[in-house]
Amino acid sequence: MTEFKSILKSHADRVEQILITLLDEGRLDYETARPEKLMQAMRHSSLDGGKRLRPFLVMECARLFGIEPSQSVWAGCALELIHCYSLVHDDLPAMDDDDLRRGRPTTHIAYGEDTAILAGDALLTLAFDVLAREEVHQDSATRIELVKLYARNAGLGGMVGGQMLDLEAEQKPQISEDEILTLQAMKTGALIRCACEAGAVLGGASHEERSTLLKFGALVGQAFQLADDILDETSNAETMGKQTGKDADRGKGTLVSLYGLEMARARADELLQEAIKTLAPFGEKADVLIGAARFTVDRKN
Ligand code: IPE
Ligand code: IPE
Ligand code: MG
Ligand code: MG
Ligand code: MG
Repeated sequence: MTEFKSILKSHADRVEQILITLLDEGRLDYETARPEKLMQAMRHSSLDGGKRLRPFLVMECARLFGIEPSQSVWAGCALELIHCYSLVHDDLPAMDDDDLRRGRPTTHIAYGEDTAILAGDALLTLAFDVLAREEVHQDSATRIELVKLYARNAGLGGMVGGQMLDLEAEQKPQISEDEILTLQAMKTGALIRCACEAGAVLGGASHEERSTLLKFGALVGQAFQLADDILDETSNAETMGKQTGKDADRGKGTLVSLYGLEMARARADELLQEAIKTLAPFGEKADVLIGAARFTVDRKN
């Protein structure tokens, strides 16, 4: 296993432990009614699956400033909960209408559409419950900074806004490169940029260091969605754990439909090289993040 892969796994294991504590054991830090079907749907949507790339980026960006993974994992988990909710809603019949996710039936297939909508809502709100906890950072002003960062990247001007543009684009006969870049920077880029910036916030980074990580996140986010669109065209459901060939079926405007596969691959590579260059100010400390950027482009699922 490469160094990157083994760190990805060890961070993913930490994330899993916290999600289990929250959702399997129901240790929510406060007494409340817990409708069992809703908890099951939330577990189905978030436990035991996914690459956990966003928490990894939070944890490795924070590590540049000496923050231990045992602490940064909390902010990482909050972001993963938002990501899991985004997948549940993305798969709904009213959106991408998918039946397979992370190698399992999507949440609405397993629990019904009504429960899936609520499970998504509850994962999103749980993320902010986690983010408000002292484990995230001892300083409450830092936690508020993170709440603002997560809310803005998840909502209107971030992931949700991007999903809206994505749906609208399906109805258009033609979509420009600029429109695709904007919607992808929002629907996918926002949470990836948020991961990198969150690491900077946790670590008390300077304005310049934070901008550098934000730029890295933007490039990785763009490369990540480009790779997702390439894999949608070239891979299969068994490898990906989700249906493929869907973008072309739905007439989705992607950079693959615009550039063709070969140019899309070349562009992904260019983005990777740019992302690596961005990290130069951090020197060798950023080697693991460079591994992550490579993985974003070379991944098989
Ligand atoms: C899938 O994200 C949705 C996109 C933004 C393309 P991931 O590929 O990170 O999904 P998991 O978390 O590994 O399942
Ligand atoms: C998803 O983009 C972005 C989200 C905000 C979830 P896609 O619709 O391409 O993601 P997949 O291919 O279903 O994972
Ligand atoms: Mg979608
Ligand atoms: Mg989708
Ligand atoms: Mg996709």
